[in-house]
Amino acid sequence: MATNTKQFGKKKACVIGGTGFMASLLIKQLLQKGYVVNTTVRDPDNHKKISHLVALQSLGELNIMGAELTAEKDFDAPIAGCELVFQLATPVNFASEDPESDMIKPAIKGVLNVLKACARAKEVKRVVLTSSAAAVTINELKGTGLVMDESNWSDIEFLNTAKPPTWGYPASKALAEKAAWKFAEENNIDLITVIPTLTTGPSLTPDIPSSVGLATSLITGNDFLINAMKGMQFLSGSISITHVEDICRAHIFLAEKQSASGRYICCAHNTSVPELAKFLSKRYPQYKIPTEFDDCPAKAKLILSSDKLIKEGFSFKYGIEEIYDQTVEYLKTKGALKN
Ligand SMILES: NC(=O)c1ccc[n+]([C@@H]2O[C@H](COP(=O)([O-])OP(=O)(O)OC[C@H]3O[C@@H](n4cnc5c(N)ncnc54)[C@H](OP(=O)(O)O)[C@@H]3O)[C@@H](O)[C@H]2O)c1
Repeated sequence: MATNTKQFGKKKACVIGGTGFMASLLIKQLLQKGYVVNTTVRDPDNHKKISHLVALQSLGELNIMGAELTAEKDFDAPIAGCELVFQLATPVNFASEDPESDMIKPAIKGVLNVLKACARAKEVKRVVLTSSAAAVTINELKGTGLVMDESNWSDIEFLNTAKPPTWGYPASKALAEKAAWKFAEENNIDLITVIPTLTTGPSLTPDIPSSVGLATSLITGNDFLINAMKGMQFLSGSISITHVEDICRAHIFLAEKQSASGRYICCAHNTSVPELAKFLSKRYPQYKIPTEFDDCPAKAKLILSSDKLIKEGFSFKYGIEEIYDQTVEYLKTKGALKN
């Protein structure tokens, strides 16, 4: 791995997990910036799943290659010749009865397989791994107004012993990120981790992404997902939301910024379910948005601070109003919301 020259002149990047919500927009932004992009997908012969990536090939050189996270050698060819590697793929199965096998082990193995291929490659200068707020905020602290920054890690022991609903996902994200840091330190890899919060906004994917469905559940009236939002506030301590475009911009900003190092929280807005419901109900009176939540704390327990990212020179383009205005328009174009 080349560590001392950091000239991102001839630009080629690899995006692992290209079909995803964030990854496909990241690829679009990279192509628009003139990068040549190799991306990996699990099933390159599934035309529906990769249709949005094929459409992006009109913007520049985009090579779509097959790779499965748990197959170490799959990543050598896609990473060959790339200076930047973005690892976004992660196994998600909230309904799993065996999160250890379905999420935790493959997430750790996948991250390590990508990093091992980066260590073997000659040209890789920096690896950007997408972690999650779920790797930061889950703890047994009490109170309100707590501030979480990059020094915070979710409490793995609590997750493993109490096993709260959906515990496997935060455990997989925190353990995969920790494993990545250990491997990167031992193998002299220039690693950055981006820590997004709940992400929404228009998507290039054929289907509406699950995080957009969750973030808009109060508007669409999906009771199952409204309960999931409440569960998110109970477990994570807040409802923290960011526009997908800003998340992808932050990935590229940090990949290109020489001075960047370590973890970076990327969060545009912190709120709670009751506060969000009041905001949405006022902004979109045409939808029947519930505003009474006796079973959910009015105030978030904590906020996620993006101070480190902002001090590095990044600015967010979208606040909560634009985040939801754009998501609502997107849902209308998908036929998931009426005017
Ligand atoms: N969206 C959010 O609100 C949010 C918030 C915080 C952090 N994140 C993190 O950000 C990253 C991207 O999230 P997203 O919402 O854009 O995800 P997404 O749309 O669900 O995409 C996940 C990607 O991972 C791939 N994948 C899953 N298991 C795989 C395996 N075994 N081998 C290879 N690829 C595999 C999927 O491929 P297939 O198409 O083949 O299924 C898909 O491309 C993830 O790491 C996620 O944990 C997301």
